[in-house]
Amino acid sequence: MSRTTAAPAVRPYRSYVYAYPHKTAYRPLPDRPALRELWASERKDALSLYLHIPFCEVRCGFCNLFTRIGAPGELTTRYLDALDRQAVAVRDALGDAEPVRFAAAAFGGGTPTFLTAVELERLCDIAEKRMGADLRAVPLSVETSPSTATADRLAVLADRGTTRISIGVQSFVEAEARAAVRPQHRADVESALDRIRDVGVPVLNIDLIYGIDGQTEDSWHTSLDAALRWRPEELYLYPLYVRPLTGLGRLGAEARADEEEAADAAWDRQRLRLYRAGRDHLLAHGYEQVSMRMFRRADAPRTDGPDGHACQTDGMIGLGCGARSYTSRLHYSFDYAVEMREVRAIIDGYTTAEDFSRAEVGRYVDGDEARRRHLLQSVLQAEGMALADYRERFGSLPADDFPAELARFEERGWLDTGAGTSGLLRLSPEGLAHSDALGPELFSPGVRAAMAAYELK
Ligand SMILES: C[S@@+](CC[C@H](N)C(=O)[O-])C[C@H]1O[C@@H](n2cnc3c(N)ncnc32)[C@H](O)[C@@H]1O
Ligand code: SF4
Repeated sequence: MSRTTAAPAVRPYRSYVYAYPHKTAYRPLPDRPALRELWASERKDALSLYLHIPFCEVRCGFCNLFTRIGAPGELTTRYLDALDRQAVAVRDALGDAEPVRFAAAAFGGGTPTFLTAVELERLCDIAEKRMGADLRAVPLSVETSPSTATADRLAVLADRGTTRISIGVQSFVEAEARAAVRPQHRADVESALDRIRDVGVPVLNIDLIYGIDGQTEDSWHTSLDAALRWRPEELYLYPLYVRPLTGLGRLGAEARADEEEAADAAWDRQRLRLYRAGRDHLLAHGYEQVSMRMFRRADAPRTDGPDGHACQTDGMIGLGCGARSYTSRLHYSFDYAVEMREVRAIIDGYTTAEDFSRAEVGRYVDGDEARRRHLLQSVLQAEGMALADYRERFGSLPADDFPAELARFEERGWLDTGAGTSGLLRLSPEGLAHSDALGPELFSPGVRAAMAAYELK
């Protein structure tokens, strides 16, 4: 049991599984299937709608999301024009043979509030008038950042029916924000939080990051307590990842290769320690754990719906050049990149495109992949997965389909062995802490190979 100096037995931070299969497993679809055919046999009465805005004021050092800084000329106008054209084409492809209804909507990015208040009105119009989503009647989640969460934009969002605002704070400690290459002043963050509370949107989510260079348990508590002052309905605690082609990734690439392993092991220990400290702190302050990253205030109102990034239910319409769409058989999107020049080229291509009637890049999710996806979506939730739901959908149990993986997880103490009697497959607290190691072990060989062969650009 001694684990004070040795590295954890299994590296805990391999990758965040927020969607399976990952976009890097998507490939150009040679037949470019027509959306009209793809959606013909799908249920369309409880779809999710996701609108992606790939613009930010700054490029944070840790961020590998599909986004660019600045928008020269009339780029945001051209982008919204393209979004409008895409919405018309996609709505047309959904047809009118059966009822088409959106049960939830989200605007993500990037930073949707990079758009002006007038542009946000237009974004809502696209969702409502082109797609037919009734934004005031369904959960609507919007991502924002401290510098763009201005009163006029928030007023538009609240008026149009936003039920959840999610703001990236990352750290209330300015030195840590600098170390993460996320330049911001605490006072500006706090006034943004005041403005969000003033506008009265029911759910406020705050994103924080742990594992930043120089962060200690004390400074982590400083950030957690600062966030708790706003009694946010939700808090996301993200372990820091340093990924290729990001600002921090480039800095790291220049660092010492021979010391890398020891440094990584120490960093794993730091992140695990801060994870446990953060989890315990929030549990002690009236929050319940929903997943490794997500915590919800136990007395918060429930406005259930997708949170932009995590929505994984079948039947998702993504609009915008970084958005994914899911039918029950095919997940599809546009090309993906991190490197600035490539991102710009893809956005430019999107804004000039006229034909949005086909799926260009994606991956089919067949029988085996659907089982993996079901398992990944539910077992990484703290409440666990109902075995009866799995059996009803697939006619088998996870233990029949994934015996080696589950035996391995059990051996490592990652499963709550008592949950079976309640009809659940559920992770133990250690299993939840190792979500980012456990999830990738459930990827299929095909998806792994595609992800490994993907050339990041
Ligand atoms: C779209 S951003 C949030 C909204 C807004 N763009 C902002 O940054 O304020 C999504 C969140 O993912 C988290 N995130 C992104 N990349 C990360 C990384 N490499 N390591 C840890 N967390 C990360 C951050 O907490 C970030 O707030
Ligand atoms: S963290 Fe947010 S603001 Fe920073 S680059 Fe990523 S999407 Fe943009």
